Amino acid sequence: MRQKLAAGNWKMNGTGAALAELTALAEAFPAQATAAGKSCAQILICPPATLLSRAADSIKGSAVTLGGQDCHAVPSGAHTGDTSAEMLQDSGASAVILGHSERRADHSETSESVAAKAKAAWAADLVAVICLGETLAERETDDTLKVVGAQLAASVPAAATGANTVIAYEPVWAIGTGKVPTLAQIADVHDFLRAELTARFGAEMAQATRLLYGGSVKASNAAEIFATSNVDGALVGGASLKAADFEPIVAALNAST
Ligand code: PGA
Repeated sequence: MRQKLAAGNWKMNGTGAALAELTALAEAFPAQATAAGKSCAQILICPPATLLSRAADSIKGSAVTLGGQDCHAVPSGAHTGDTSAEMLQDSGASAVILGHSERRADHSETSESVAAKAKAAWAADLVAVICLGETLAERETDDTLKVVGAQLAASVPAAATGANTVIAYEPVWAIGTGKVPTLAQIADVHDFLRAELTARFGAEMAQATRLLYGGSVKASNAAEIFATSNVDGALVGGASLKAADFEPIVAALNAST
């Protein structure tokens, strides 16, 4: 059975004052919640790297875990301004988001570079949360499955397992826009991704790998999205910044079957 996952991506938001939100979230979901509730979701918050080590103190004793938002493909070296997977792990992260569409667009990241970063993440004992998704133009020309299939094939290295990899489907046009695909459109893509994983890695790996939906998830639409075929959780941007917005999303995930 796949453990559900509620992931929050703070993006380039948050200074020390934002740690109060993490503390509030940690208080709402103490560690015992994970042990006691059979359907309790894993919670993963990815704050800016500058907050990670302080965030690690804020979440002690809770069900909340921490991740980075990107990493370099090598562990150390002359790469001014970059952060390695080892550094994230050392600061308290257990996962890292890779290939977010904002990285692909703003930093010209290719699926091949995402795959190299995934290997670096695994070498540092981080779970790779690999993002993919189509643009509005690609959706309108009916190229969605072709695009996400190609991204999946090239971004996910051969050594992927259900334990070291999470896939997040995030239509670019749904991120930060308030627009959400229909539930049928989400199901189409998630069913396709599960089938692609099965074809390449076999049923065991495909059944063990969490598939997240991301893009304008909020408390008001979370329950119906979580009830959609092959959706194992969400990657949430804006609505993860405030504990009061994120808590009902986690609660909806816990309540989903
Ligand atoms: P959003 O962002 O929830 O603000 O749409 C999602 C994401 O980029 O992961």
